[in-house]
Amino acid sequence: MKGIILAGGAGSRLRPVTTSVNKHLLAVYDKPLVYYPLATVMLSGAREILLIVRPEDETAYRNLFGDGSALGLTIQYRCQERPRGVADALLIGRDFVAGEPVVLALGDNIFFGHGLRAILKGATSRREGATIFCYWVNDPERFGVAELDAGQQRVVGLAEKPKEPKSNYAVTGLYFYDAQAADLAASLEPSERGELEITDLNLAYLARGQLHCHILERGFAWLDTGTPDALLDAANYIATIERRQGLKIACIEEIAWRQDWIDGHQLRTLADRHGDTPYGRYLADLPRIGR
Ligand code: DAU
Repeated sequence: MKGIILAGGAGSRLRPVTTSVNKHLLAVYDKPLVYYPLATVMLSGAREILLIVRPEDETAYRNLFGDGSALGLTIQYRCQERPRGVADALLIGRDFVAGEPVVLALGDNIFFGHGLRAILKGATSRREGATIFCYWVNDPERFGVAELDAGQQRVVGLAEKPKEPKSNYAVTGLYFYDAQAADLAASLEPSERGELEITDLNLAYLARGQLHCHILERGFAWLDTGTPDALLDAANYIATIERRQGLKIACIEEIAWRQDWIDGHQLRTLADRHGDTPYGRYLADLPRIGR
């Protein structure tokens, strides 16, 4: 399983905060936003990861993650010159994916909840078709929306930001695809807003009878970070849980260590990089908390 994280885009709804800083580098409480989708992709089991960024941000991302080896990963970078749409990620990443299954995560989506790893493993083990994740929201018109059958099990329709949504189920920014994805993406036409829509790619899978949907139940958190209020809400949510438990959400170093992709010595090196900070002390203390 390969992983792609889409971290380009203008972040225009967050201006002036995003005038000179890419949105996915902004802090969500104690770590950059991009750590959260990276954590999701790592929990899916992907160690070969492609980060798609704007040309002007590439250096900043390389400074953050390097080649990924410190985390037991291989991270490559590709630039998206302008935001041509979410499905464009599969065209930019075509040679990287090289006909293997891939998990695509949008750089501004945060997932947190009990059983996440098992849910992701379930999607990873499915060899054919596409898997999407839907979540009940009170403002579905802001998202891709799934229409479900009477048993609420199967998707029967999808629409991108419909004026009159057929359900409250938003399609979240996490997608698992088989080897057909790049070819199907190449056959898409830009939408009215001039983007290659991920909803159109998912519709192509639906037409083939190969679209699977997993409902993320209530009690699960799916947060987006597109506006100042949403970003603040997400930071407060993460802070509340982390302070209560003393355990971190989306701590990529911890995930790498727990997956056995780095050993205790490498974890200590990563902890030392952060010095005597709460984050550094947390990493240094992990062996005491235990695997
Ligand atoms: O968040 C989930 C929603 O993401 C889905 O429900 C929609 O079906 C899907 O189309 C998408 O909605 P938006 O169109 O609102 O996505 P947005 O433009 O906010 O971009 C999502 C992320 O992807 C964001 O972190 C920026 C990045 N991005 C987006 C585009 C269009 C890129 O890096 N390049 C792009 O070309």
